[in-house]
Amino acid sequence: MSVNQTLDTIFSRTSYRGSFKEEPIPREDLTAIMEAGIAAPSGCNRQTTSLIAVDDPKLLRKIKDLYPNPSCQTAPAFILVLTQQIVGVDGHYYHVQDYAAAIENMLLAMKSLGYESCWYEGNVRPHAAQIADLLKIPDGISLVCLLPVGIAADEVVRTKGKKPFQERAWFNGMVSEGQ
Ligand SMILES: Cc1cc2nc3c(=O)[nH]c(=O)nc-3n(C[C@H](O)[C@H](O)[C@H](O)COP(=O)(O)O)c2cc1C
Repeated sequence: MSVNQTLDTIFSRTSYRGSFKEEPIPREDLTAIMEAGIAAPSGCNRQTTSLIAVDDPKLLRKIKDLYPNPSCQTAPAFILVLTQQIVGVDGHYYHVQDYAAAIENMLLAMKSLGYESCWYEGNVRPHAAQIADLLKIPDGISLVCLLPVGIAADEVVRTKGKKPFQERAWFNGMVSEGQ
């Protein structure tokens, strides 16, 4: 592996779906993680992504009841990712790209601070409206993703490998060099 800390963090990140330790997450860490999300690029700099960290035990319990994912049941904090469909100066919408960039920044920030997480979007979708109601999220802003934040209680293992580099990346055109 590399000697570059950023690359090490990128390559060691993996979706973690195990249990979390009970240890609460310091506010300064949750703030740093959200600042990493906010620092992400956004199309036409529209900054369409917003974030809510939840560390209040009673509120966490209510969200866990609405989203009964086994791994998330043990998480000491969540970060909820919100998006707004705002058109860019070029007439295009970039909110999906914007929140994806913010999420990846936060996943990497968590990893670098010693936390594990998983990008829960597909599984959260059916519960998103109810969680949004609970958090008093106004109309026009959608909850799209839930990120648990916590220290792994189980072994962190990469469950799904990536396709070989040669199948996904090329130099100077989409043909193997020498062909
Ligand atoms: C848009 C998006 C939605 C995802 N939604 C879920 C989800 O709802 N539940 C889940 O367990 N993982 C979800 N994931 C995580 C992927 O399953 C995971 O990133 C993929 O299997 C590759 O594994 P890795 O993150 O360990 O590299 C999502 C990832 C992305 C990018």
